[in-house]
Amino acid sequence: MSDAGGVTGVVERLRAAGCVFAEEEAEMLLSTAAGPDELDLMVERRASGLPLEHVVGWASFAGLRIEVDGGVFVPRRRTEFLVGHAVDLARPGAVCVDLCCGSGAAGAVLLAEVEGAEVHASDIEPAAVRCARRNVEPRGGRVYEGDLFAPLPRELRGRVGVLVANVPYVPTEEIGLLPPEARDHEPLVTLDGGADGLDVLRRVAGEAPEWLAPGGHLLVETSERQADSALAVMSAAGLTPRVVTSEEWWATIVVATRP
Ligand SMILES: C[S@@+](CC[C@H](N)C(=O)[O-])C[C@H]1O[C@@H](n2cnc3c(N)ncnc32)[C@H](O)[C@@H]1O
Repeated sequence: MSDAGGVTGVVERLRAAGCVFAEEEAEMLLSTAAGPDELDLMVERRASGLPLEHVVGWASFAGLRIEVDGGVFVPRRRTEFLVGHAVDLARPGAVCVDLCCGSGAAGAVLLAEVEGAEVHASDIEPAAVRCARRNVEPRGGRVYEGDLFAPLPRELRGRVGVLVANVPYVPTEEIGLLPPEARDHEPLVTLDGGADGLDVLRRVAGEAPEWLAPGGHLLVETSERQADSALAVMSAAGLTPRVVTSEEWWATIVVATRP
């Protein structure tokens, strides 16, 4: 008996298209589609290779439902490790910045988890800024458009307690090795970190000390291979860095503190 529009049918279509987590994906599609026609269209779009989060328009991140539009970087589960550390380091009422915010997932979590947090987020991509405004501003934060620190209010200088910057860090030559979902559906500016992957991180580290409060922290995600170079970049900027890794999350982060 055919079950083309039910769970089994959806799982079968996703599996045939090569989706490894077909059951979980089917659940997300079924819970989002308003009816059988929309479900059919969503399964078709997913089967054609569009990222699941772009098909349904949202991602689950640290317990929040984060809206993600087409052309906006999909927040990765491993980034919950970075954001968890940011939450742990932020005091109640902390001034927090989510630089290179994409959908604004980190900023939204800081607002949800840190009592009285003042959150400012920014990104250079207009599509990301539009999306982040829907995730961050209803929770009480502000989102700005522009290059790194340039659009942030000047009065934040020297007052930032927690600066989260999940910047692009894929070396240019490795972009072609990424899964097609990222390569074909996330803009290059969201992925490409230059020759060694650390170009944007270098710029962030160079300016961070001006914005951090004494004792404030800059937190970035990196790859295990880049960790030593990232540490050197942070030290050269006058920060005191340490690397934290998690096998569970398959994540490496650098936490750099302004002395
Ligand atoms: C790897 S994505 C991370 C997005 C988000 N922080 C997250 O974790 O989901 C990097 C983001 O940096 C932004 N970006 C790249 N270069 C930038 C720049 N010079 N200034 C501001 N944002 C930039 C991209 O548009 C993209 O949204």
